[in-house]
Amino acid sequence: MSENVNPTPSRDVTAAGTHGTVTHPDRFTDPGVPEHNPRLTDRDPKAAKRAERTVVLLFGVSILGSIATLVAYFLVRPDGTTEGVRLSNVLLGTAMAISLLAIGIAAVHWAKTLMSDRDYIEERHESRSSDEVRAVAAAGFKDGYEDSGLARRGVLKGAVFSALGLVALPIAVPLVSSVGGDWNVGKFRHTMWRSGMRLAYDPTGRPIKAADLTVGSVAHVIPDVPAEERETHEWITEKSKAVVLLVRLNPEDLKADQSPEGETWSYDGIVAYSKICTHVGCPVALYEQQTHHLLCPCHQSTFDMADGAKVVFGPANRPLPQLPITVDDEGYLVAQSDFKEPVGPSYWERLK
Ligand code: FES
Repeated sequence: MSENVNPTPSRDVTAAGTHGTVTHPDRFTDPGVPEHNPRLTDRDPKAAKRAERTVVLLFGVSILGSIATLVAYFLVRPDGTTEGVRLSNVLLGTAMAISLLAIGIAAVHWAKTLMSDRDYIEERHESRSSDEVRAVAAAGFKDGYEDSGLARRGVLKGAVFSALGLVALPIAVPLVSSVGGDWNVGKFRHTMWRSGMRLAYDPTGRPIKAADLTVGSVAHVIPDVPAEERETHEWITEKSKAVVLLVRLNPEDLKADQSPEGETWSYDGIVAYSKICTHVGCPVALYEQQTHHLLCPCHQSTFDMADGAKVVFGPANRPLPQLPITVDDEGYLVAQSDFKEPVGPSYWERLK
């Protein structure tokens, strides 16, 4: 077996660059640089050839993946049904994943087996400027300040700093006024839920009957309002405060289904809680049926839906507010009232 049949050509060069010089370790005697240990592909041309073939094969797999993606895109079009969309997504995703993964693995294998693995040392100059350069810079600033006349012209100085101080206002005022110009934080204490208002699926707006929900099922819920009201800007704002997650549990699994005053706020194992996390307001939506835990994806606060949505993990410091529900004469789920406490981050509940 021959030595150094596929070595990186020895570069007898010291290159000067913007940030310093790069010296080939062969010519650098720093004992901190480990001795180069030739790999199998450096020593054995057959191994190098094998590695090359593997890399080529992986790139070939990537090409096939790309072609398969195009074929899947043009031949398997979503037909509007859930199954059709799912099939199209699975095929596209799988083919694309193969294509990208093969490129990644090929690049890593190429780098690890065929590219040079020698250590290089970059010598750097001291980054601190010399005392002379620093003195010149300081003198430049001083000259600029004196040249501007700010030191001598007090009125000008006041005008400049006032203008700079106020320049943020044109940005801040529209931002603040877009909140509505209404600093009555009480509006965060209430939502549009009212006694007798039906619960409806989000986003279709179809009212929900208790019989529609099987044990373990989850529904994203909005208030049932007439279709024309759903077009307004106000609806969008109010809906975002009123969104609810509805879960049906086994009634015997419910550890807490009563309000502090002893009223029943759930219906036959169906509980409704605000979807807005009490930490900083992300939508909580990841429900685990076996544990009855609801997870917030932002910072992993976890709420126990069988136990009053109490916090069992994470940074949230109060349970999700519960929407008291019951059914009407036709079996539709309806709210008994608004939430009994403010929805959203705990900050708002402290403001009266
Ligand atoms: S917003 Fe839900 S855990 Fe932070």
